[in-house]
Amino acid sequence: MSEPILKVKRLAYVRVAAPDRTRAEAFLLDFGLRIAARTEAATYLRGTDAESHCYVLTEGPSDVLAIAFEAADEADLEAIARAPGASAVEKLDEPGGGLVVRLRDPNGLRVEIVHGQAALDPIEAAPSHAYNMNGDSPRRGPLPGIRPGASHVRRIGHLVLESPDPAGLHAWYESHFGLRKSDEVHMPDGRTQMRFAHVDRGDEYVDHHAVGFQYALDESVRVQHIAFEVGNFDDLMAGHQHLKAKRRKPIWGVGRHRYGGQIYDYWANPWGVIHEHWTDTDLVNTSSVATDSRFEDLEEYWGPPPRPAFIVARWNLKAIRNLASLLLARFRSARSASRSAAHSSSR
Ligand SMILES: [Fe+2]
Repeated sequence: MSEPILKVKRLAYVRVAAPDRTRAEAFLLDFGLRIAARTEAATYLRGTDAESHCYVLTEGPSDVLAIAFEAADEADLEAIARAPGASAVEKLDEPGGGLVVRLRDPNGLRVEIVHGQAALDPIEAAPSHAYNMNGDSPRRGPLPGIRPGASHVRRIGHLVLESPDPAGLHAWYESHFGLRKSDEVHMPDGRTQMRFAHVDRGDEYVDHHAVGFQYALDESVRVQHIAFEVGNFDDLMAGHQHLKAKRRKPIWGVGRHRYGGQIYDYWANPWGVIHEHWTDTDLVNTSSVATDSRFEDLEEYWGPPPRPAFIVARWNLKAIRNLASLLLARFRSARSASRSAAHSSSR
């Protein structure tokens, strides 16, 4: 594979529009983000980590308007500014400052590459503790300061882009930003159902995925969900109870993902944009070996089934046809597995 134009360091922030900024802010505070700055045009939200804001909220029709990655240095910004369709290196006229190059991915989603944003003062993170497990008991005495209330979101971790051609979309992100495949799930006809990709920081371990490229059952394009790391399992569960008490809309969870290994919990904002809490991800580096598997064999480690809103964002004939074909493949696979189990136990 040829070298990418740059290797991004991390996912930096998302820009999300909501028809009612006050209601959207209230959801995000219940979700566990904190307000870093407010201007007439936007609200900037952050996690407890000292990195720059990770969420820019503006008023407008509900949509994820842009996603942003951080570049390692200004030379990388100059390199991406030479890519077809990219802007020049420009000043980011927002809290935190910095420089930005804007371009659009093949689906038309705005992608911003930023560098030099000012770090924030860190905020106290969720209290953490060792676990007493399987007779190994490193934790003595009472738990340290766990409280009910909103989760302590640390940072943005990943997002999932849906399209009719996830492999082609990943190829663009790989050649531009160096996002490398971590694992892939295939549909019965061999096409990509989901490809997980991580930022390439060489030997340094990074999250299992910064971007997931998923086949859209309705064959349209969208940001399917945006995901944020919280302090730990207790913090995630406290946040779950808090969102429930606030009558927010649950989408899927709590469970443990097969790919990425995170404990997950998904909620929608009042307009249906899916926001995920996760904790305890798998880490990968340049030596990690990507795997390929079949959708029909895929099962999460544990957790409830997802709600339909997670699987299909917009119902149309294509979505019904594609979903039916995946469910049929899964049914056949489960039937053949139970037949071979019955066959071997009868021998
Ligand atoms: Fe996720």
